[in-house]
Amino acid sequence: MANPKTTSGPVYTDEAVRWFALATVLWGVVGMLVGVIIAAQLAWPELLPKLPWLSYGRLRPLHTNAVIFAFGGCALFATSYHVVQRTCQTPLFLPGLAKLTFWGWQLVIVLAAVTLPLGITTSKEYAELEWPIDLLIAVVWVAYAIVFFGTVGIRKVRHIYVANWFFGAFIIAVALLHIVNSAAIPVSLTKSYSAYAGVQDAMVQWWYGHNAVGFFLTAGFLGMMYYYIPKQAERPVYSYRLSIVHFWALIFTYMWAGPHHLHYTALPDWAQSIGMIFSLVLLAPSWGGMINGIMTLSGAWHKLRDDPILKFLIVSLSFYGMSTFEGPMMSIKTVNALSHYTDWTVGHVHSGALGWVGLISMGAMYYLIPKLFGRKDMYSVRAIELHFWIATIGIVLYIAAMWIAGVMQGLMWRAINPDGTLVYTFVESVKATYPFYVIRLLGGLLYLSGMLIMAWNTIMTVRVGQVTPAAVPPVRPAHA
Ligand code: HEM
Ligand code: HEM
Repeated sequence: MANPKTTSGPVYTDEAVRWFALATVLWGVVGMLVGVIIAAQLAWPELLPKLPWLSYGRLRPLHTNAVIFAFGGCALFATSYHVVQRTCQTPLFLPGLAKLTFWGWQLVIVLAAVTLPLGITTSKEYAELEWPIDLLIAVVWVAYAIVFFGTVGIRKVRHIYVANWFFGAFIIAVALLHIVNSAAIPVSLTKSYSAYAGVQDAMVQWWYGHNAVGFFLTAGFLGMMYYYIPKQAERPVYSYRLSIVHFWALIFTYMWAGPHHLHYTALPDWAQSIGMIFSLVLLAPSWGGMINGIMTLSGAWHKLRDDPILKFLIVSLSFYGMSTFEGPMMSIKTVNALSHYTDWTVGHVHSGALGWVGLISMGAMYYLIPKLFGRKDMYSVRAIELHFWIATIGIVLYIAAMWIAGVMQGLMWRAINPDGTLVYTFVESVKATYPFYVIRLLGGLLYLSGMLIMAWNTIMTVRVGQVTPAAVPPVRPAHA
């Protein structure tokens, strides 16, 4: 991609991309720091002063909101605004509105950071924010959709590249999920009650929850995969045909898998079984996509040896493959009878979150940040390599500890003496989990240290870099 010092033709409008990219790094540090704090609280519950806003129950949603919506969200905004311009060969539609989405989204993040520790919450997981903030999210999201689809609308090439399909599906689905699941009756500025009751409420919540995984934590990041892996590897996507099948199969299947969060509950049994079956089917498109991403490296495997950015991008796909194999297995009712309520779920979550979402975002940022600040590479390429290894070791420690702890808890809880009494008390299982909580904390500390190295590297890159507008190249007759 051309990146001249001066240019007279049209240039890409990258201000919002730049801001969102820097915010990704900042919120990554903050969100993971809170993750480390709550991991330490689980090992040592009396760690922090006994203040309500420092309690585990309030800091936990702060962590999930910060890592998913602040860190992950900013990475998605930055990359989608970057990719849509390059693949449509046009500057952003309404770049001023794009900047507004940046400030709007930061306001949402700050409001979340204030209200959650104060205990202001709807208590719906991953949708804890109260109704005035929900309205703000809806407005920012509509503006985001206008900028994104507007840019697709004014594209200079006929074809809409597959990455945009994934980003587009993510934007539409998240709007739908957010509006339906947040429907509520306000009773004051800081309190509302869900519009749904009982098991319907649970079903809507987990239709939302699972699709938040499918669309917020997966579809948009697959958009990143389809642009940044071919770019960094300098190879075309392994199979463009497979990418189209991957897209339609994935978005169709995800929508129906939510009930696997509600096994053995008041939800009708047939609905639970549908959730399980669709989750099992989901293995196929997930692995199809993973294979398409990894095989893009065919003929260029040697690049993995000394390109740390490719290491981030490709290893993220290995974790994606692992967590999308594990998820369908956990959705089988008999397996779920063991895994549910245990730390196995937390291990599954973080193999997806740290391994897939975290590593692919970091890889994409390492690709993007130097280009946004007029440099060929980050300030220190060796620091990227160091970050990669520290993060990978951290993930392995985290998820292995949680798997062992989870299976152990499940087995201890179901162990029964010949006379029908429980072999273990609950507190015995808590005591047995303690060493694994300490190992998880160590893994989290390593992962956070990697993020701090990234923050240092980013600051140095920005300091020595120079913002130079990138020219829109002349339109080629056909685009694939
Ligand atoms: C330094 C890195 C991190 C550490 C130490 C950490 C730690 C934790 C801890 C201790 C919990 C609570 C587990 C429990 O309730 O038993 C948690 C929950 C969670 N974290 Fe993280 N986390 C980290 C990074 C991330 C990232 C990057 C993401 C997403 C992109 C993420 C997503 C989540 C989610 C979704 C939950 C809720 C899990 C559930 O309800 O099963 N975390 N994390
Ligand atoms: C084929 C894909 C996947 C399937 C079928 C799947 C299935 C499951 C199942 C069965 C559970 C346990 C539900 C329970 O017992 O409560 C679960 C929990 C979870 N999974 Fe996955 N998973 C998949 C991929 C992923 C990925 C890639 C991520 C992250 C990026 C992820 C994030 C989560 C989260 C956050 C939870 C915890 C929800 C909560 O209870 O708070 N999953 N998943």
